[in-house]
Amino acid sequence: MTASLKRLAARLPKAELHIHIEGSLEPAMMLELADRNGITLPYPDIDAVSKAYNFNCLQDFLDIYYQGMSVLQTEQDFHDLTWAYLQRCHQQNVVHCEIFFDPQGHTERGIGFEVFMPGISRALEKAQDELGISSRLIMCFLRHLDEASAFETLQAAEPYLDAITGVGLDSSELGHPPHLFRNVFERAAQLGLKRVAHAGEEGPPAYVYEALDLLGVDRIDHGNRSLEDDELVKRLASGRMPLTVCPQSNLRLAVIDDMAAHPIRKMLALGLNACINSDDPAYFGGYMNENFDALITSTGLTRDEIFQLVGNGFKSSFLPPAEIAAHMSRINEMREASKE
Ligand code: ADE
Ligand code: ZN
Repeated sequence: MTASLKRLAARLPKAELHIHIEGSLEPAMMLELADRNGITLPYPDIDAVSKAYNFNCLQDFLDIYYQGMSVLQTEQDFHDLTWAYLQRCHQQNVVHCEIFFDPQGHTERGIGFEVFMPGISRALEKAQDELGISSRLIMCFLRHLDEASAFETLQAAEPYLDAITGVGLDSSELGHPPHLFRNVFERAAQLGLKRVAHAGEEGPPAYVYEALDLLGVDRIDHGNRSLEDDELVKRLASGRMPLTVCPQSNLRLAVIDDMAAHPIRKMLALGLNACINSDDPAYFGGYMNENFDALITSTGLTRDEIFQLVGNGFKSSFLPPAEIAAHMSRINEMREASKE
């Protein structure tokens, strides 16, 4: 039974809405790019890298993640990183992706928009042409830096805004509440950008309220801790506010103790608009299908719930309504066919 559900999840066309492109840097590529760019990493080989990927919390991970991205130096590096992720999408039937990137993780090292934007964009265009994968780009502000730095980043992005659909908020959540970024999100809204924010991953329900009320977000990234507040759950459910949930990330960052305790089924039962995503697949043990597999193995996820989660992914995307409808009709056809 679980094997056939895993085959179903693998076969379905899927949308991924929560993936940090820098978090798709596989250990092998990290070592290869370090070599290519003459950078010394504290890891002699892939085993040493994998051993370092043992985290007790979000900050443990972020320290290694920011160090890892130092190997990304040239336009070609950003292209190769993005293209590798898109090939994984193709292998796993992810047909639409909305990709986060962390400009300040690069500009702080002297690598500017003129380097990473063309590299990432070239890979996205090639994926549309050669693999039929559609995509959007979402630029995240690092919340451990201040709002002035976020404003500088938004300004540096202005020549590239045709290629950027929205802004997000990521990095160390605790102690860096959404209200600190209210003005820069307001400016992003004036520029016509969509808005999302990581909230309720480690932070309390109050951070989710702030993201909704002060940042005006279109989606909440993670949102797990919303479950601690019944009023918030009701509000999220009645507004069909998307939650981009990341099961393997939750396990590896100790948001949950084991996969069997993942609240995804509870979220759906409460009427929450959750979908499944990989977050930082190179660091957390897998891409989209591995996240479904883990839930199927450990939580008893059902066929109907798989369809619900996959449909929520498309419906929560920033695609135009006609494209969402086309994806949904394909999924509904597959739902009917899989009953037989
Ligand atoms: N940056 C990359 N992955 C992240 C996560 N899961 N939470 C916050 N910031 C991140
Ligand atoms: Zn994330």
